[in-house]
Amino acid sequence: MKTFIVGNWKLNFNVGEASVYLHKIQRKIANYRDVEVVVAPTALCLQPLSLQLDRSKIKLAAQNAFYRDFGAFTGEISFAELKGLVNYCIIGHSERRYIFHEDDKMIAKKVAAAIRNGIRPILCIGEIESERAFGETADVIKDQLFGGLSEVSVEDISKVLIAYEPVWAISSTKDAKIATPDEIAEVVGLIRENLKEIYGAKIAEEVPILFGGSVKPTNAGAYLTVPGVNGLLIGGASLILDEFVDIIETAKRVK
Ligand code: 13P
Repeated sequence: MKTFIVGNWKLNFNVGEASVYLHKIQRKIANYRDVEVVVAPTALCLQPLSLQLDRSKIKLAAQNAFYRDFGAFTGEISFAELKGLVNYCIIGHSERRYIFHEDDKMIAKKVAAAIRNGIRPILCIGEIESERAFGETADVIKDQLFGGLSEVSVEDISKVLIAYEPVWAISSTKDAKIATPDEIAEVVGLIRENLKEIYGAKIAEEVPILFGGSVKPTNAGAYLTVPGVNGLLIGGASLILDEFVDIIETAKRVK
């Protein structure tokens, strides 16, 4: 399986800044067969960046989209509109869950809409600090996984990527902590167990699982060698070109 290195730029970089970044990174990296490099800029950047993109080196992801393809939904962007512009879409990020009140039902519809439009969903799941403290991590993971995948058939699960992002480890979370490889390994094991329950043992091993939460060049190697981890979802460090390139190089080496 490829290693996925995904940069989530969140609400950073305007079109000009994003374009300069893309220009620079495309000069710094080669076409790495075993490492899929993806960036997720803001929606407004997707069209201009898609024209500038060297798809042999880097792919685009959207950060969110609405589950209906068209209609009276003021302010939304559909997966149908994103078709052809992006290969991936981040869905159910904790910032969407907790700031914009997205629930598992809505997230499931978005995952289905992405697949319907030929876009691979990166379904984000993860517990908050108090849920971990109360020993609820396994239940939260199960609920978010069964909820988010409720509309995905066994034929379509191969299109889905899962990102485990413990909310307490995301750098923008107040008093963020650094997740240890053991903590990650345990939850990745739970994710595979749940996938096995829904889709069977063989498929459970084939779904890429990414880790996200304060990933930096200094810890990327350790996280990428956690059993069952197939890539990284990176926020803050993906905004710093040299750090993101460093992480890509690490992924290439670890592979
Ligand atoms: P940081 O890498 O800044 O902790 O962000 C993680 C994240 O939320 C990526 O989606």
